[in-house]
Amino acid sequence: MSEPFDTVDIIRTKRDRGELSSAEIAWVIDAYTREAVADEQMSALAMAILLNGMDRREIGDWTAAMIASGERMDFSGLSRPTADKHSTGGVGDKITLPLAPLVAACGVAVPQLSGRGLGHTGGTLDKLEAIPGWQASLSNEAMLQQLEEVGAVICAAGSGLAPADKRLYALRDVTGTVEAIPLIASSIMSKKIAEGTGVLVLDVKVGSGAFMKTQEDARELAETMVALGQDAGVHTVALLTDMSTPLGLTAGNGLEVRESVEVLAGGGPQDVVDLTVALAREMIEGAGVTDVDPAEALRDGRAMDVWRRMIQAQGGDPDAPMPTARETQQVTADTDGVLTRLDALAVGVAAWRLGAGRARKEDPVQAAAGVELHAKPGDRVRAGQPLMTLHTDEPGRFERAGAALEGCWDVDGSGDAGHTRPEIVIDRVS
Ligand code: URA
Repeated sequence: MSEPFDTVDIIRTKRDRGELSSAEIAWVIDAYTREAVADEQMSALAMAILLNGMDRREIGDWTAAMIASGERMDFSGLSRPTADKHSTGGVGDKITLPLAPLVAACGVAVPQLSGRGLGHTGGTLDKLEAIPGWQASLSNEAMLQQLEEVGAVICAAGSGLAPADKRLYALRDVTGTVEAIPLIASSIMSKKIAEGTGVLVLDVKVGSGAFMKTQEDARELAETMVALGQDAGVHTVALLTDMSTPLGLTAGNGLEVRESVEVLAGGGPQDVVDLTVALAREMIEGAGVTDVDPAEALRDGRAMDVWRRMIQAQGGDPDAPMPTARETQQVTADTDGVLTRLDALAVGVAAWRLGAGRARKEDPVQAAAGVELHAKPGDRVRAGQPLMTLHTDEPGRFERAGAALEGCWDVDGSGDAGHTRPEIVIDRVS
């Protein structure tokens, strides 16, 4: 079959800072999906996009082409409105676990199609798979039935949504082209728009443990994604949230499930509670529900009731104890003072090296591995006090995890340091 465009011309146009036409973008994504554009050509184009950017029209066309590469879901037959949340990923980010049942308890259905983790940020499915019996894969029919009956589903995204993104994301991962705002925004939004949610709330992380290290970049990513969502008719809002330090007190699959259950029981770390409630408020208000207080639904056990039904519906035992690691090791503070910094990326890498994450997508993860924090920035600590407990089934992993943590915290012993904790929600984009 003769092709209407030449891939090399398209690469040259972007290499020379030109603009790609709508027809060129639609063709190159379609041709890549049917393997008429080779991986090495797409890598060159992805690098040209990373270096030279795309304007809003090009990003919109790129997103539309990725949506058109696969199927679209439809939740319009459900008896309640739908809202979904996407996080750009961070360390200790277990928010989906308490959030989905909380929003469902407020009367809005949550279809949360999730993934497994790669690198230092954990995946939601890896966390839930720490619960004995819990199954990530559901057919579209089973997912719709659970949404109608329970109100919340967290399950594996099927291969039918934006298949072009699946190939492209794997390629970007091995060619140093993940960190391009046009490619991140179109990758995330193509899957969310194809999923068919009515409301989308984006949690755009900023700080050392996030893709976006500066507020400026995070804001640009948030604005790009909000515009894409709104253009596609999805009510879309973004919160910029802090990822300079881990969220909550745990990073690692089973440890994070345990902490999420504490939040659903009305306790848990304040930053996790605050962010869960802030995102829930955006989701239910976006769906038109204004007479329910999510903070109350978390406190009075309604969210916990939905959690239990959500876990049971996918074969999990909500009462089963979480697996515990065979070995633990403590990391202690060396001086008295106020903890002023605890770096998210270092803790994420340590949890990963302890076995909580995977280096290649086919690697297994340990359910019980990870890092438990005993202090957060703003807390007063004493020399010799445990700052963290490292958990793993394989003690040979402690050394490399410990190396990741070297120099990752500061204690100010001068007596001048304030005791303030950073605000978890930094900004809102709508
Ligand atoms: N998550 C995605 O789904 N895609 C990206 O490009 C980055 C994060």
